[in-house]
Amino acid sequence: MPNLLTTVHAEASNFASDVTKEDAYKQVLSQATALLDGQRNWHSNLANTSSLLWHAYKSLPTPSASVNWAGFYVLDKSRASQLILGPFQGKVACQTIAFGKGVCGAAASKRETLLIHDVKAFPGHIACDGDSKSEIVVPIVVGGQTVAIIDVDCAEVEGFDEVDRRALEELARLLEGACDW
Ligand code: SME
Repeated sequence: MPNLLTTVHAEASNFASDVTKEDAYKQVLSQATALLDGQRNWHSNLANTSSLLWHAYKSLPTPSASVNWAGFYVLDKSRASQLILGPFQGKVACQTIAFGKGVCGAAASKRETLLIHDVKAFPGHIACDGDSKSEIVVPIVVGGQTVAIIDVDCAEVEGFDEVDRRALEELARLLEGACDW
């Protein structure tokens, strides 16, 4: 039943200018938990979550501030083993990605996180934006099936580390249970 008492407010995307990466992710997770309470529509939830991630990265020092794309691809129900572009923040991106292709498709088919320090070293990386130098992709898996992936790109090499991996995997677990896929 929708939580009608919870007011969604743009302030949820405000992060302190001196916040640490760990604390920024804690805020993303707590705000996402609140926003997802009483709302199970994946489209709405991924749209707000990509806003939280984007503003978190922009509040941090580099390399996080150099994130140039943060969002989601979801399982394309009209075509087996294909991802289709979901809600995101950043520039226009590739619309479909086959399972097994690029970093996103590889993470989707392996059902495991791929943390790529230098995309040039990843055979088959799909360069939707030539500015992207590093990338992290975390699958969202329900009932053994990848239903979506979190994708974040950075315009610097080594833009992501184990802090990003742990937090984004926690976010993926939250989204797995909180949305109707
Ligand atoms: N680089 C990704 C494609 C998606 S964009 O980064 C938004 C890949 O190799 O799968």
